[in-house]
Amino acid sequence: MTKETNLKSMNDLVALCKQRGFIFQSSEVYGGFGGCWDYGPLGVELKLNIKERWWKGMTLREDVVGLDSSILMHPSVWQASGHIEGFSDPLVDCKNCKERFRADQIDLALPCPKCGSKGSLTEPRDFNLMFKTQVGPVETTASIAYLRPETAQGIFVNFLNVQSTMRKKLPFGIAQIGKAFRNEITPGNFIFRTREFEQMEMQYFVKPGSQKDAMEAWKEIRWNWHLANGLRPEKLRWAPHPADKLAHYADAAVDIEYEFPIGWGEMEGIHSRTDFDLTEHQKLSGKKLEYVDQADGNKKYIPYVVETSVGCDRSLLAVMCDAYRVENQGDAETERTVFRFHPALAPIKAAVMPLMKKPELEEIAMKIFSEIQTRYRSEYDTAGSIGKRYRRQDEIGTPYCITVDYDSISDQSVTIRNRDSMKQERIHRDQIMNYLLNNFKF
Ligand code: GAP
Repeated sequence: MTKETNLKSMNDLVALCKQRGFIFQSSEVYGGFGGCWDYGPLGVELKLNIKERWWKGMTLREDVVGLDSSILMHPSVWQASGHIEGFSDPLVDCKNCKERFRADQIDLALPCPKCGSKGSLTEPRDFNLMFKTQVGPVETTASIAYLRPETAQGIFVNFLNVQSTMRKKLPFGIAQIGKAFRNEITPGNFIFRTREFEQMEMQYFVKPGSQKDAMEAWKEIRWNWHLANGLRPEKLRWAPHPADKLAHYADAAVDIEYEFPIGWGEMEGIHSRTDFDLTEHQKLSGKKLEYVDQADGNKKYIPYVVETSVGCDRSLLAVMCDAYRVENQGDAETERTVFRFHPALAPIKAAVMPLMKKPELEEIAMKIFSEIQTRYRSEYDTAGSIGKRYRRQDEIGTPYCITVDYDSISDQSVTIRNRDSMKQERIHRDQIMNYLLNNFKF
């Protein structure tokens, strides 16, 4: 009987990610850099697979097109959107140990959560989360720019460009994947809250009055996307924003939360953003951002917007937490750690292994590897015993291992091992590509 354990602590995941080349601390040789992480060779593949699935899921439809807007934008964008004025968290300092906290995450009446000093916490003050930078060689107030804290504004200011060039009629959406930056007071929990991260956002422009229906439709699509990535339904839940906690731009909002080892946390937000952003950009820029509705007597109006906004890194973290298992058959010897990734997300789809480092086996194995590598990212693995190599591939979530042994020379057959069931089948080497095609239907 197989005994299975889920991921218990984020530290176990951090260690595996480092050991196997998924995620490293940023600037590690200098002791790290707070709230920033680097994706290694396997992490970048996993992330690209998530982005590709999102991109295809969101844009391979008639009513959504893509965009890649710049990170640096005119500072007025952030004035109009309300970020300069209001994109802040309440910050408190401990006068004794100098640690900083978000006032909304601690009990201000209690001693400092770090050093225990009584009465050492300052009054909360607003701390703007946007990173400021400077454009051009001369530092003046006019040269200040911001690293975008959300990708959405690039979509809003391009609304008419996209609508008119693509001749889109409402309702239609614009999708974008890109980096966002927030000077978080308390980054942490691995890649859950970082200062540099990627968002996958879509703004769906609708006729005012139809935003509720659009929101319901997108809620279902987004929920199903997470399930299609293999997340267990019992680990997902809806978290509606109460009316008195809605952001200044929203008339309704709901989060999709995932149960991480640190507890339930937001993974995606679905927001009904009204006409707030387009109206504010129209006001401040002096440029009309109205839509001419030919289906309604050429009426002009500013569309309403339903937004879906998911953190790529948080989605990746959920995928990793969900897929992580430690299994054994009742004893330490059979123990293995395995990432049960959905095959579409697995960074490496197959590993090819000669049973031993012998030229006659290596020649066949290398040929097989070269063939399948043209279609599926694969590894050629010769290091260590076959058992050790299987364990290593399990740890990086490779769905199939293909082993070449001495029988392969005489009858051209190979062993193909399934990551999850650990079952092994013998198939003819000519059948390998078909086997993978049949099993990778995504
Ligand atoms: N445009 C709307 C918007 O940005 P948000 O709820 O602030 O909404 C959307 O962010 C998503 O971006 C979150 O659900 C989360 O997945 C991700 N996200 C936000 N801040 C993050 C951070 N500091 N680190 C990692 N991901 C973050």
